[in-house]
Amino acid sequence: MDQDALKKQAAEAALGYVEGGVVGVGTGSTVNHFIDYLATVKGRIEGAVSSSEVSTQRMKAHGIQVFDLNAVGDLALYVDGADESNHQLQLIKGGGGALTREKIVAAASAKFVCIADESKLVSMLGAFPLPVEVIPMARSYVARELVKLGGTPVWREGFMTDNGNLILDVQGLQIMEPAKLEQQINNLAGVVTVGIFALRPADVLILGSETGAKTVTA
Ligand code: A5P
Repeated sequence: MDQDALKKQAAEAALGYVEGGVVGVGTGSTVNHFIDYLATVKGRIEGAVSSSEVSTQRMKAHGIQVFDLNAVGDLALYVDGADESNHQLQLIKGGGGALTREKIVAAASAKFVCIADESKLVSMLGAFPLPVEVIPMARSYVARELVKLGGTPVWREGFMTDNGNLILDVQGLQIMEPAKLEQQINNLAGVVTVGIFALRPADVLILGSETGAKTVTA
């Protein structure tokens, strides 16, 4: 099976967690498969809260109603992908640049089900360049501070987030204490969000694999 087929397998398995109400929906190629599966049960849900404009467009094209998070309060379920997960289900996210809205919807959800192909499970976070969303005027300052933390930040040129900000992708990190680094980077002036999801990790990780979807809990 190729990587996309494994993503699709994980996405299909996540449908088993959908019980109705308003579902939190993330962003990315794995979530795109989930949205397509969600559309098959759209009569059983009220709608969704979206973490990005691109997911919103895909859901609306399927006829799934998309709500503003402010209009619905806390959610029972959030389904999203990841760029890396460790065995504690702490994640790196933001390869698609939607990390801030993803972190908000994850924070507002009782259960976070992460879907990925099995190559995303790692023993230590950091091989995938860590995305950091920054206010444009703070780009160089934050980059210098990230160098002090041991990383090599690279500006994702030509990319603007849904919030009108920039992304620095930080290479060369070996993240031994994800929650500590999440707090350190979030505390830098000008940082909107870092793509470490350790303070609010996933609750369930569904991995597509050659032998079928595997469920991992921390
Ligand atoms: C989007 O900003 C990311 O957090 C995605 O969830 C992550 O990059 C996973 O994407 P894929 O499902 O495309 O691998």
